[in-house]
Amino acid sequence: MSNVAVIGSQWGDEGKGKIVDWLSNRADVVVRFQGGHNAGHTLVIDGVEYKLHLLPSGIVRKGKISVIGNGVVVDPWALLSEIDIVKKLGVDINPDNLIISENAHLILPVHQAVDHAFEAARSGNNKIGTTGRGIGPAYEDKVARRGIRICDLAYPEILKEKLESLMLHHNALLRGLGADVIDVNEVYDKLCNISDVILSYAKVSWKILDEARKTQKKILFEGAQGVMLDVDHGTYPFVTSSNTVAGQAAAGSGVGARTVGYVLGITKAYTTRVGTGPFPTELFDDIGESLGVRGHEFGTTTGRKRRCGWFDAVAVRQAVRVAGIDGISLTKLDVLDGYDEIKICVAYELNSKRIDYLPASQVEQAAVKPVYETVSGWKESTRGARSWAELPAEAVKYVRRVEELIETPVAMLSTSPERDDTILVHDPFR
Ligand code: IMP
Repeated sequence: MSNVAVIGSQWGDEGKGKIVDWLSNRADVVVRFQGGHNAGHTLVIDGVEYKLHLLPSGIVRKGKISVIGNGVVVDPWALLSEIDIVKKLGVDINPDNLIISENAHLILPVHQAVDHAFEAARSGNNKIGTTGRGIGPAYEDKVARRGIRICDLAYPEILKEKLESLMLHHNALLRGLGADVIDVNEVYDKLCNISDVILSYAKVSWKILDEARKTQKKILFEGAQGVMLDVDHGTYPFVTSSNTVAGQAAAGSGVGARTVGYVLGITKAYTTRVGTGPFPTELFDDIGESLGVRGHEFGTTTGRKRRCGWFDAVAVRQAVRVAGIDGISLTKLDVLDGYDEIKICVAYELNSKRIDYLPASQVEQAAVKPVYETVSGWKESTRGARSWAELPAEAVKYVRRVEELIETPVAMLSTSPERDDTILVHDPFR
């Protein structure tokens, strides 16, 4: 039996929600290990819709333990408001089923202010298009060793001291950017008001996970965003501020690398991206528009329209390699129903040379041109198919070609947002 890490293999929004929900139903413990409330997915269970940003997906199911790992950055007010909303939908959330790692870092109002001020100050093409949630500045404080952690809330004096030095730094930046500064006392008071309730969830999470491992509980590591947004392996600097690869599941939750187990890469049958930055297969024509409309490609967190394009096998193959993906879950195949022809990017052209990988330089990433292979589309619907036999032959060919190009098998194929509309080839928990 294996644990499972679920990560996105493209630029996020690959449809992790449905797969994570399906797997969390069978897990004992669900752990978030990176990112923060920049993520977002919608779960529909027994007709009730839950929009989750920071809470692990296990929270909506009885008898599961949900852990917000040390690698996550936590906006405590956003967390409390999410807990409140989900509780109102009838879910029991208490310190027995929700655990926040005591060494997770906090996102403070000043991080959001700095996030907005820097985005506003960046000119056109240099804008990152962040979610504005303060994720980047909070991670910056973490590595700069001035961050404030959940455990600091238990010690008001040290909290005040740390807050003062952190705000000194950020208020100087805000002033320089012509933005309003933030009152340190106000933030301190606000934090003191919620510290007891936040601390009631705070635990030594690595010990709880170690116990789960020893007692052979099934652990699901729930990633956010995607490999192309990884701070090392993605389209830097147009990335998020954490590592999104599966290795982060270990570091971001405090378990050994071997505990992570099977790595499932969620992969959309075409490509989308929100925010700015390189996107080699982006389509600016009617096909791009139609993919967006059919796929309902609007962000869960910010409502932004997603950019759409053909499947990029070069980027996904690279994601598979750098993130150690064992198998993929191919999602939204039904969005490709009805096209006469479908294109797949099989290589890039850079300075008249064909290359088989995405180079690191932002200049080169912006300059690569996709080399396409055209395959026949299919007229029949794949929506809701639950076996290979229900798929049109051309759709099966498309999936097989994707597997070949990314050199990785399809473990699951998702054919609609419904949980049971899934073709299971390999159970990741086995
Ligand atoms: P940040 O994570 O808010 O700093 O944003 C950095 C980049 O990551 C931007 O391009 C965002 O649009 C993108 N991003 C962050 N979270 C998600 C997500 O959950 N899905 C897709 N893109 C995301």
